[in-house]
Amino acid sequence: VEQVTVAIPSRSYPVTVGAGALRELQATISRLAPTGVAIITDQTVGQLYGRNLAAEQECRLYEVEPGESAKTLTVLGQVLEFLEDCKIDRKGLVIALGGGVVGDLAGFAASVWKRGIRFIQVPTTVIAMVDSSVGGKTGIDTRRSKNAIGTFWQPSAVLADTRVLSTLPDEEMTAGLAEVIKYAISLDAELVRVLQTSRGQLLARDPQALERIVAGSVGLKANVVVEDERDHGPRAVLNYGHTTGHAIEVASGFRISHGRAIAQGMRVAARLAQRLGLCDRDLVKTQDELLADYGLPGQLPKISPETVLAVIPRDAKAIGGRVGWVLPEKIGRARVGMTVPQELVEKVVKEVFAE
Ligand SMILES: NC(=O)c1ccc[n+]([C@@H]2O[C@H](COP(=O)([O-])OP(=O)(O)OC[C@H]3O[C@@H](n4cnc5c(N)ncnc54)[C@H](O)[C@@H]3O)[C@@H](O)[C@H]2O)c1
Repeated sequence: VEQVTVAIPSRSYPVTVGAGALRELQATISRLAPTGVAIITDQTVGQLYGRNLAAEQECRLYEVEPGESAKTLTVLGQVLEFLEDCKIDRKGLVIALGGGVVGDLAGFAASVWKRGIRFIQVPTTVIAMVDSSVGGKTGIDTRRSKNAIGTFWQPSAVLADTRVLSTLPDEEMTAGLAEVIKYAISLDAELVRVLQTSRGQLLARDPQALERIVAGSVGLKANVVVEDERDHGPRAVLNYGHTTGHAIEVASGFRISHGRAIAQGMRVAARLAQRLGLCDRDLVKTQDELLADYGLPGQLPKISPETVLAVIPRDAKAIGGRVGWVLPEKIGRARVGMTVPQELVEKVVKEVFAE
């Protein structure tokens, strides 16, 4: 088990990663000495792990429906009423047990209940372990826009037990590994080597091998978040592959999953960087091979590059219509806020989709 500290001044917290990290739950709760505890999870994770955990902790559990559909104002209302029923007061504690959906929803609920109470993240997907549980972004969707309503609210602790990944569906595993590859290519050449050499163990869900890449990714995200908690600048590096990736998700009507879409987005970004003379052809090749090793982006349904191109300028992170690209310079390093000529974007997106 490894520990990474997210050293945000005045709100520093530990992320415990590894096989057996959940054994620290009792000690973590005791340290926080809450007046009451409530667990929020989804039905799938509830059945697998939540009900046991609630019995052990002698606390109540609320299960939302699995999937993005739980990130709504309606479900938020139900969660807040549950906290009220449980008589969770200002010194109470929420445990968010599940994937990114539960983490975002329960974290948001904790951030507004009684004007903000403490919460612990217990992420159970790779995405949640390496991305959503660390950094303090919480939120829900409106009918038309994802993560439109939210807060910055840091957890008091994160416990990422890689053993629970044994039950994660393959497709969710692949999605998470796409984000890990994103961290590696844009921030950490050593992590690229680990991914290249430990593929077999990782795909077999070996908890120790997973511990290494999860702890590595958390460390990278923690560094970025400490630099830029509120996402005003350097945190943008975490969007590597996401500019085209989001556009692909939208253009496909969300038939293409986030992980596969950002993998394709990374292929676009690396090719843009190469054409601009920022990186060499080897980077493009190394990244293509690493992605392919993990089945990414995989066979994607046909979508028109024109639709993707039409969506890119609407990127959520664009300011005043200007898209800031994240482009790799070499393996393990990327530049943020780059402007790319429109003709080049068109050319490369069309090429990548013609392959
Ligand atoms: N706050 C942030 O910084 C941030 C970052 C990235 C993503 N997100 C958000 O995270 C969400 C995506 O998260 P996700 O990919 O974890 O999705 P998710 O929470 O929907 O989980 C995916 C599926 O896996 C199931 N599951 C979870 N853990 C399991 C386990 N151990 N065994 C078996 N099944 C399990 C869930 O029930 C669900 O059906 C999105 O809403 C996204 O906006 C937030």
